[in-house]
Amino acid sequence: MQSTLSSKLHIGIIMDGNGRWASRRKLSRLRGHEAGVEAIRRVVEAAPQQGVGTLTLYAFSSDNWRRPKAEVSALMALLRSYLANEIESLRRNGVRLTVIGRRDRLPDGLAAAIEDAEIATKSGHRLHLRVAIDYSARDAILRAATQASQLTDLTRERFAELITGEAEFRDVDLVIRTSGEKRLSDFLLWESAYAELHFTERMWPEFDAEDLAEALRSYHLRERRFGGLQAAPSELALTS
Ligand code: IPE
Ligand code: IPE
Ligand code: MG
Repeated sequence: MQSTLSSKLHIGIIMDGNGRWASRRKLSRLRGHEAGVEAIRRVVEAAPQQGVGTLTLYAFSSDNWRRPKAEVSALMALLRSYLANEIESLRRNGVRLTVIGRRDRLPDGLAAAIEDAEIATKSGHRLHLRVAIDYSARDAILRAATQASQLTDLTRERFAELITGEAEFRDVDLVIRTSGEKRLSDFLLWESAYAELHFTERMWPEFDAEDLAEALRSYHLRERRFGGLQAAPSELALTS
């Protein structure tokens, strides 16, 4: 089943702008994060119908621990309730959920909710939803490098497996970042080596199925060359 999913697109989303969306409405930042969870529901529902096989969502970066304690605790509680409330509908919709990032610094309740959700959804084959929590791409690469130092016949594929924890892994095709910011903020650095980038002014709580479709339309208009050349008719003639 995983092989079917890895033949479809892998999209990574840096879900940014919850706080700004809320403060523009004179709401608390927490209300912004709550509205962000609604956007997650919309996108997870829409993604499989739009040709997406793997969706990696950046929910909490390892640098987000620098935020005020109250916001961090609220985010942890929100992630825990998202996982607990969503398990059944993810399972019904064929979504396999896995979480990437460090688990040892998470509150016990959240770590348990992650395990429950991963076990309950493990046979999902319509969409692989990866949620990045306490995630840092540089830390993931560093951990893989530590493990790799024991190996003698290291290949790119094997190293990618150590970084991602997945044997059959598709690189990221498209990274979307909301809220107008144009940076990667330590998200999927290895996996996005040839990813197309889509930046939108839309704040994450407003993001919906149509925004995803628009990002995908722009993606499909691009020409991915991976360092090669555009296949022009004359060149095709030379190789045939
Ligand atoms: C993204 O929204 C959610 C997390 C990083 C957890 P922000 O909270 O970063 O929202 P802004 O960037 O302050 O508007
Ligand atoms: C990136 O957003 C992390 C997530 C979306 C979870 P941030 O809002 O934390 O990133 P910076 O600090 O603006 O780069
Ligand atoms: Mg932000």
